[in-house]
Amino acid sequence: MITIGIDIGTSAVKLLAMDCSGKVINTISRDYPLYMYPDGRSEQSPEDWWAETTAGLKELTLSLTEPVAAISFSGQMHGLVALDEKDNVLRRAILWNDQRTGAECDYLNKNKEMLLDNTANIALTGFTAPKILWMKNNESELFAKISKVMLPKDYIAYRLSGVFATDYSDASGTLLLDVARKDWSDPMLKEIGLTRDQVPTLYPSYESIGTVTPAAAQETGLSTATKVVIGGGDQAVGAIGTGTVKSGTCSVSLGTSGVLFVAADNFAVDKGPSAIHSFCHATGRYHLMGVTLAAAGSAKWWYEEVLATHDYSAEQAAMAENLGKNTVFFLPYLSGERTPHNNPLARGTFAGMSMTTTRSDMTQAVMEGVAFSLKDILTRVTELGHTVSKARIIGGGAKSPVWCQIVADVLGVNVEKINATEGPAFGAAILAMVGAGAYTTVEDACEKLIQVTEEFTPSPASTQYEKMYPIYTGLYTALEDTYKAITEISKEV
Ligand code: XUL
Repeated sequence: MITIGIDIGTSAVKLLAMDCSGKVINTISRDYPLYMYPDGRSEQSPEDWWAETTAGLKELTLSLTEPVAAISFSGQMHGLVALDEKDNVLRRAILWNDQRTGAECDYLNKNKEMLLDNTANIALTGFTAPKILWMKNNESELFAKISKVMLPKDYIAYRLSGVFATDYSDASGTLLLDVARKDWSDPMLKEIGLTRDQVPTLYPSYESIGTVTPAAAQETGLSTATKVVIGGGDQAVGAIGTGTVKSGTCSVSLGTSGVLFVAADNFAVDKGPSAIHSFCHATGRYHLMGVTLAAAGSAKWWYEEVLATHDYSAEQAAMAENLGKNTVFFLPYLSGERTPHNNPLARGTFAGMSMTTTRSDMTQAVMEGVAFSLKDILTRVTELGHTVSKARIIGGGAKSPVWCQIVADVLGVNVEKINATEGPAFGAAILAMVGAGAYTTVEDACEKLIQVTEEFTPSPASTQYEKMYPIYTGLYTALEDTYKAITEISKEV
């Protein structure tokens, strides 16, 4: 059996064909434009996603020797796609990284208790409900024409199958889903001015919502018998791709941003100010997740912008011998911070240098600072009742063995690398396998398809990192007001 996983990313769509032994047969990636503006707006055209996905599918299906049993999706989360009653796209999609909704978030967060009770989360500029409210406040004529709202991957699933659907994991990031009860929240729909017929029908991520329409089959080379399995948000589906499915298992992503993701059988909500996301998992259960906004992004900035080098490993050459011995600190808040501070004004900060501090000490501080920011997330997750003893590590930063060791030492958990490196598109192909009946559950598929290839265990340096962690957290507390003052003065220059 062959399935295809489709990852609707922010820079490109990635398509991956896989057989039921987990062997990747072919992958294709096609870019599309991203419209980013200096005032923080970030948009993409759903028609571009469609054009590149169909072209990619055509190319991929032509390379296959047997028909595709099922396709499924991973999608950039939170993006607002709005259609009129004739299914025309009303405006470009407003994306997860768009920052225009500060006022709408402030308005919604005035009633945090109501948000937490109804959605298990608080309003962040990335989430979908503030974007809908922004349309209502700023584009009232377009808002009045909305017949359907959906998320990026749901638009592609809709055009392929004709079924207006979403899944629980992606819907969790809208701030319209009652995550605990897995249903749309009527109070939240009312708050932003939508009705239930304007939002999609909810499905588990591994469920088939229908088959490919004749028109879409013609355009893509798929067959009208190919099942369309709804899939999920990129973080949940990426976690499927790493086998992070059993309750208490954890994955760490060292991408541009860093994510710490914990699978959970039971629903939990973070009532503190930390903004730990409490979402449905693509397994059908739950997960908790925190995001540090500049992880590999901090490293890239340090190496390329400051040190003016692309040779990352040369900069790390002396580091393995120095773990736990560095007393320079770095707060990686170059893009502000989401979890746990939820503070767009926070800024990157070095502390603790002396005349003997070396270039390598500063580089190490950057990598340790990112690990401390992940520990901040892990600490909140632990407070919500989870014991994490190991984490699977993925993303560009995971290519550095010394960074994997630093993460193991700072988090105090075993860090594992795995055989599957394709990420969310691989997770989506697994969901398609489950939807097509090749595996009975997502857990079963992951167990058979994903293996650990390398393990990093905490070294004696972890004792020292434990002592350093309160100093790291104390620095943010000491500097919070200073970041506000820096923002004020930045407006003058
Ligand atoms: C998740 C998030 C990103 C986007 C884009 O909360 O904002 O992962 O889904 O990748």
